Amino acid sequence: MYCVRNITDDLYYVGGNDHRLALFENIFPIPDGVSYNSYLLMDEKTVLVDTADWSIARELLRNVDQVLDGRDLDYLIVNHMEPDHGASIELLINKYPNLQIISTEKSFMIMRQFGFNIDGRIIEVDEGDTMNFGKHTLAFVKAPMVHWPEVMMTFDTTDGVLFSADAFGSFKANDGKLFNDEVNFDRDWLDEARRYYTNIVGKYGPFVQDVLKKAATLDIKYICPLHGLVWRNDFGYFIDKYDKWSRYEPEEEGVMIVYASMYGNTEFAAQALATKLCEKGMSNVVVHDVSNTDVSVLISDAFKYSHIVLASVTYNLGVYPKMKDFIEDMRALNLQNRTVSLMENGSWAPQAAEKMEEFLDDNLKLIDVRTEQVSIASSLSESKESDMDSLVDGIIESMEKIREEKEKTLEQNK
Ligand code: FEO
Repeated sequence: MYCVRNITDDLYYVGGNDHRLALFENIFPIPDGVSYNSYLLMDEKTVLVDTADWSIARELLRNVDQVLDGRDLDYLIVNHMEPDHGASIELLINKYPNLQIISTEKSFMIMRQFGFNIDGRIIEVDEGDTMNFGKHTLAFVKAPMVHWPEVMMTFDTTDGVLFSADAFGSFKANDGKLFNDEVNFDRDWLDEARRYYTNIVGKYGPFVQDVLKKAATLDIKYICPLHGLVWRNDFGYFIDKYDKWSRYEPEEEGVMIVYASMYGNTEFAAQALATKLCEKGMSNVVVHDVSNTDVSVLISDAFKYSHIVLASVTYNLGVYPKMKDFIEDMRALNLQNRTVSLMENGSWAPQAAEKMEEFLDDNLKLIDVRTEQVSIASSLSESKESDMDSLVDGIIESMEKIREEKEKTLEQNK
């Protein structure tokens, strides 16, 4: 038995899943695992598209061996040299000594940096180059910074298959499923796909935009990413998500409230705010405790929702450390184009709101920090009711304003 599936008559999925790894890149929790995708094209020549992480190297070799069924492996295309895909290159070279490796100049540089002996087997390709392997002609498309500088994508012009490297990937193991139409993607996969994109590639939105423009010129029938599912229909759905994420446009009108609370008082205020928002008709609200929510989840929701409320207790006369980490990550991942409201708490010198506002103003682009703020002294008192109402009204007004501006732009573009 082998974990191999056909994508087209000539193309096979030969990758695998890892449920043992707790932290992807040793930082992102992956409770549902991850897949490392590798594809084998059986033409007059045999062509493997990317290898896989060490953790599934044995499965990869078994799957490749099964599909080759006694034939030699002629070529390996390396679209991305990060070790979760490139780690097994040396094993492939050892097993298939005639193997030629097709990749970019930068990719070969990185292979050498990792200590791979690739001398005498490299074929360097550049933007727009093509190679024929019999029935199939493959074209190479550079995709720098999606997610590393050496990245390229490969397009099979014969069958319309785009090997998209990390783009259109996802956390979450495939577990036998392979195609997007074999799952309820919106219900079961979208959150992990967003968390993967925003945390891994989120910083490089303009580069993703460049690739989307190139992809729009191709007649795509399949998208084969390096993680997650293969797409064979409904491309518009996922491309639209990528377009929004990479333009830093919110996916949904809604509010993410993130609170930092030591003894429950700031948490109570955050919950009171959520209650008021829902009472006023804005029920697309999520509330996260910054102390026990992984920052990758916070980042993912920050990309999803249009409005963010940061509610922080004051700590060492500044912002609570976990909240500081989150807003630092927002900066690192280039999050922009959001409306942010602030709440603070402090028993003697509340300062968190002022410090958060300073950081947002100085470090993030296109962030509208609302002037309505709530400053709590130890615990939420009745005297803060009107401040809380103003904060809620400010959020709702800003949503209406954004909606009106969008409608105006749509009207103008008609
Ligand atoms: Fe899945 Fe950038 O590696």
